[in-house]
Amino acid sequence: GQANPNRNADENIEENELTSMLKCMHHRIDQLIDVKELMHREMMKGLSKDTHNTADVKMYPTYVRATPDGTESGDFLALDIGGTNLRVLYVHISDKVVKQIAETRHEIKDLKKVTGIQLFDYVAERLAEFMEKNGLKEKTLPLGFTFSFPYVQKGLTSATLTAWSKDFEVSGVEGEDVYVLLQEAIKRRGDISVNVLAVINDTTGTLMSCAFEHHDCVAGLILGTGTNACYIEKLENVDIWDGDTLPPQQIIINTEWGAFGDRDADGNGGVLEHLITEYDDEINRSTVNDGKHIFEKMTSGMYLGEIVRLILVKLTKAGVIFNGNITDDLETKWIFKTKYISYIEEDTSVNNEACKSIFKKFGLEIKDEDCEKVKTVCSAVSSRAAKLLSAGIAAIVCQVGRKEVICGVDGSLYKYHPNIKTIMAETTKLLAPFMTVQYVESSDGSGRGAAIVAAVAQRLKK
Ligand code: GLC
Repeated sequence: GQANPNRNADENIEENELTSMLKCMHHRIDQLIDVKELMHREMMKGLSKDTHNTADVKMYPTYVRATPDGTESGDFLALDIGGTNLRVLYVHISDKVVKQIAETRHEIKDLKKVTGIQLFDYVAERLAEFMEKNGLKEKTLPLGFTFSFPYVQKGLTSATLTAWSKDFEVSGVEGEDVYVLLQEAIKRRGDISVNVLAVINDTTGTLMSCAFEHHDCVAGLILGTGTNACYIEKLENVDIWDGDTLPPQQIIINTEWGAFGDRDADGNGGVLEHLITEYDDEINRSTVNDGKHIFEKMTSGMYLGEIVRLILVKLTKAGVIFNGNITDDLETKWIFKTKYISYIEEDTSVNNEACKSIFKKFGLEIKDEDCEKVKTVCSAVSSRAAKLLSAGIAAIVCQVGRKEVICGVDGSLYKYHPNIKTIMAETTKLLAPFMTVQYVESSDGSGRGAAIVAAVAQRLKK
């Protein structure tokens, strides 16, 4: 049939409104280079004694200095507390193979606001249950403990929480040593005995897990509920290090880059202020750590879905999408999960089934043209994240200064999103043009990784 010129004109106006609303999500390459340089500067501030206190990126020394050499062996437990799950694993390491014998997983969303005692009692109870079930209750096994929040370490078995992230607000833990809290909870039960050899961050676990197969791996990245990266640094560059300087003269630095761009205590803007959108501001106001973990809130799984929802609500109110129909569900905070972004972006079916069924849950029957717009919004939000993260990796790669860098990666958003991997590979190439960066998916960095760190610690003790 004949095209209706008015209809086309209307569509153009809508398209433009959509495009202009999403403009704030698109960053030019020069802006990304700028982010890379800002990140690098914050990293340097974090490493130096004089500037450490005011640095956003804290660059915590992990006390993990040696990578696996393949001679590690034995049976190990791994305990993993991340942003979404608590897991316990039983693994066997020998002949350069890590074999998982048993695993259990519990959701921890209901434990975000309890007390520290309640949290660690719950953890110890799940651990005891697991040991019982797998016939390990009479044994004293070495254990690696992955605890993926920001903390200062004084050794492998000391970890003082500086501040919760990922919307946790468990009371009585900030300023405390989580190694001690775990030991005390185990003692209160009195029915199990474990030998906790290390407390590690999930990024360290990912690096170590990757290094088990790729000995040259020098960095670890997590893109899941939260985001963070670590890398191997020369001791001579770590001004804040006051431990021994014996070989190996290197150490894994946990950057805690989620805090990049943080505002100060009075709410004054940080270094990413020029890129922060009204949606990011809204996210900040909806979280318990307003003004903190700014970089993480622009890039990680806990928040991207909510950013998409906020944009969709604004588009609906402007009449650009969904015929202007807003439902209570669509107006409910956090209802739009980040996994929906992956489902929608990966759905290439002509009738947009994935998208339609998601919005049906929110009481909306949507048309194909709406689906196209939703997809545009999703990809704007996920691409922004991928690009900002690449700027962070480029800063690390630049600091590492090797021509070839292997970076182990784990986390649900990285693994399950259809385009983030590709965008990151391409953007990293643009931002670190003289280096070759290879992202290697690491299988269960935080679980397996904890067992590997424990195994390396045990080898070094022998
Ligand atoms: C948050 C935590 C950090 C962790 C990351 C990924 O940023 O503060 O320790 O590595 O999430 O789980």
